[in-house]
Amino acid sequence: MTGAVKPAPGPVKPAPGASGDGLLIQIDHLSRTYMLGEVEVHALRGISVSVRRGEFVAIMGASGSGKSTFMNILGCLDKPTKGTYILDGIDVSGLTRDELARIRNNKLGFVFQGFNLLSRTSAIENVELPLLYGTASLKDREARAIKALNMVGLGDRIHHFPNQLSGGQQQRVAIARALVNDPSIVLADEPTGNLDSRTSVEVMGIFQDLNEKGITVILVTHEPDIAQFAKRHIIFRDGRIQSDKPNPSPKLAADVIRDLPALDLEEPV
Ligand SMILES: Nc1ncnc2c1ncn2[C@@H]1O[C@H](COP(=O)(O)OP(=O)(O)OP(=O)(O)O)[C@@H](O)[C@H]1O
Ligand SMILES: [Mg+2]
Repeated sequence: MTGAVKPAPGPVKPAPGASGDGLLIQIDHLSRTYMLGEVEVHALRGISVSVRRGEFVAIMGASGSGKSTFMNILGCLDKPTKGTYILDGIDVSGLTRDELARIRNNKLGFVFQGFNLLSRTSAIENVELPLLYGTASLKDREARAIKALNMVGLGDRIHHFPNQLSGGQQQRVAIARALVNDPSIVLADEPTGNLDSRTSVEVMGIFQDLNEKGITVILVTHEPDIAQFAKRHIIFRDGRIQSDKPNPSPKLAADVIRDLPALDLEEPV
């Protein structure tokens, strides 16, 4: 049972030397089958893939091809039916729920399409939420939340409520929340799906900055324009990886924003 798991705040120790080769994620013949009544749904059908520390991966593919199922397993929110998943040297396929929760808290940050912020809660309190499960003091929690909000350029909005923020600002609060535990991986499922194109590029700029700082970023997107900011493209099809290629020339969000017309530009008469 779970009694053996200590609620220690420190990271779960990787096997000695296991991740010294820079491999952060090693997935081997991984399948996920859902049971819908009597019917088996094969969402993932034997996927093998690895991701090195510091990569920026975009996952694409048609609706229903298994992208979110894959992200949920990567994020230790769900377990594979078959196959192995080694995260930073730890075989997570066999861990208990408590151990998985501890890994999520220590290593992973999540960003979703719908922001998932608590609406009656200020930006800073939303960002502090993941820290409530740990041992950080109130002062420490506040300091870390402010640091994360500064990282996404929202240091001047910390007491705003979600309905006092634009969509892009809300997504930045969600990114700050993902960063507050100092994760080594940020997983984002359609993070720009609810944003206009300019704001989407701005959010991609934040992911690029984080990636420059060494955080591994894995994001799902339907939009080829958004995938252009990533360094590697993995395309899913029917629960399998159809292609997996480096992006030889990722676009820089800062350059794209510079070339966009200014928002307040008046139409020439
Ligand atoms: N909880 C579930 N129970 C049963 N079937 C599921 C469940 N979750 C997903 N599926 C099925 O698994 C397959 C993969 O779904 P998944 O959500 O991973 O697709 P996706 O690539 O993320 O699609 P989208 O682009 O629409 O978000 C689909 O056929 C879906 O219907
Ligand atoms: Mg999905």
